[in-house]
Amino acid sequence: MLGNFTYCNPTRIHFGKNAIDALVDELNKFGKKVMLSYGGGSIKQNGIYEQVIRALKTAGKEIYEDGGVMPNPTVEKLAEGAKIVRDNDIDLILAVGGGSTCDYAKAVSVSAYCEDDPWEKYYIRFEEPTCKIVPVGCVLTMVGTGSEMNGGAVITNHAKKLKIGHVFGSDVFPKFAILNPEFTFTVPKYQMVSGIFDIMSHILEQYFSGEDDNTSDYIAEGLMRSLIQSSRAAVKNPQDYEARSNIMWTATWALNTLIAQGKSTDWEVHMLGQAVSAHTDATHGMTLSAVSLPYYRYILPYGLAKFRRYALNVWNVNPAGKTDEEIANEGLAAMEAWMKEIGVVTDIRTLGVTEDIIEGIADSTLIMQGGYKVLTRADVISILKASL
Ligand code: NZQ
Ligand code: ZN
Repeated sequence: MLGNFTYCNPTRIHFGKNAIDALVDELNKFGKKVMLSYGGGSIKQNGIYEQVIRALKTAGKEIYEDGGVMPNPTVEKLAEGAKIVRDNDIDLILAVGGGSTCDYAKAVSVSAYCEDDPWEKYYIRFEEPTCKIVPVGCVLTMVGTGSEMNGGAVITNHAKKLKIGHVFGSDVFPKFAILNPEFTFTVPKYQMVSGIFDIMSHILEQYFSGEDDNTSDYIAEGLMRSLIQSSRAAVKNPQDYEARSNIMWTATWALNTLIAQGKSTDWEVHMLGQAVSAHTDATHGMTLSAVSLPYYRYILPYGLAKFRRYALNVWNVNPAGKTDEEIANEGLAAMEAWMKEIGVVTDIRTLGVTEDIIEGIADSTLIMQGGYKVLTRADVISILKASL
């Protein structure tokens, strides 16, 4: 049964080859002072920076540059961005980049005027913002996180060995997002497939929870089928516009809150992956791919009916003459074959994890309640060891 919900997604999306043409009109809706946040420099190499600067100048904006947002943005960088916003009375934060830059912009937007320590307030106590929220707009250059149309903002605290996401409400969602699939053509293959697995994981973590005959799960199956098909094409030819545009749109719908409506969700794979990342600073999607198969094989007996459905509806497993367990396991084997085909990492050792830090990673792993089995610390350690 679908539970009760209120659904609103306030982000305006401009999608396609000419999406950047909408930027000037969007900028005109906000005040004069724009903080331009971006990553380590890819946008200066691929020409996206010039296109954004042109739009900012056409709209008559004062530009406050804020480059150097790192993958897995840190609490120190967050403080730096918040200071720029506060000191200059910024009217709009324009994030140009991937999930890290978009997440960072949202975190800055609720931190600049925060009366408390933002890390403690948002990432330890999970409180909602009570201060002024600075609007955010996104020009997306890397696909995967769904950050362009959601309230998520993941921040890493290396000193505390924690990487934590806060999912903020609709006031913090980007006001607009520019999605041109061609902007993603220069993303290196490692990052592209990492993003593809991130999308898959987002869908799976909402799918593998609950047992109702739920519309959200049918949508999830459709999104996964599209993603699998398009990922194969994109790996063969990264310039395949059809594939890259399908992947971009699937990423947005995978995590813009739609398929979570009216049902429970899991997110334990993300908690495991974030803990791995807190200790290794590894690429987000690869931390998920490295722990997913051991995790799903571990919880399969507790959610057998759904794993069977996944095998049939997503991987077209032929059920004739097979037990439910055999069908379910064949689904995960098909997923494993696909992961190897596209080239994602399937063990945490490759990401820099060694036996001696397993206990520490287990300490950094938050335990969620919505999966088919609520993990104990011993379960977490077993899964991490099986992921080595
Ligand atoms: O920094 P630059 O130079 O831009 O290089 C980036 C970075 O090295 C590069 N890149 C991006 N666009 C490019 C490009 N290189 C060439 N051409 C382009 N067009 O790609 C690298 C990775 O970028 P990043 O933004 O870190 O990747 P991603 O989009 O995967 O974001 C990861 C972050 O998002 C968080 C993750 O935890 C991680 O911190 N997540 C956010 C979520 C949300 N908001 O809901 C949910 C996700 O589960 C995830 O946790
Ligand atoms: Zn993710």
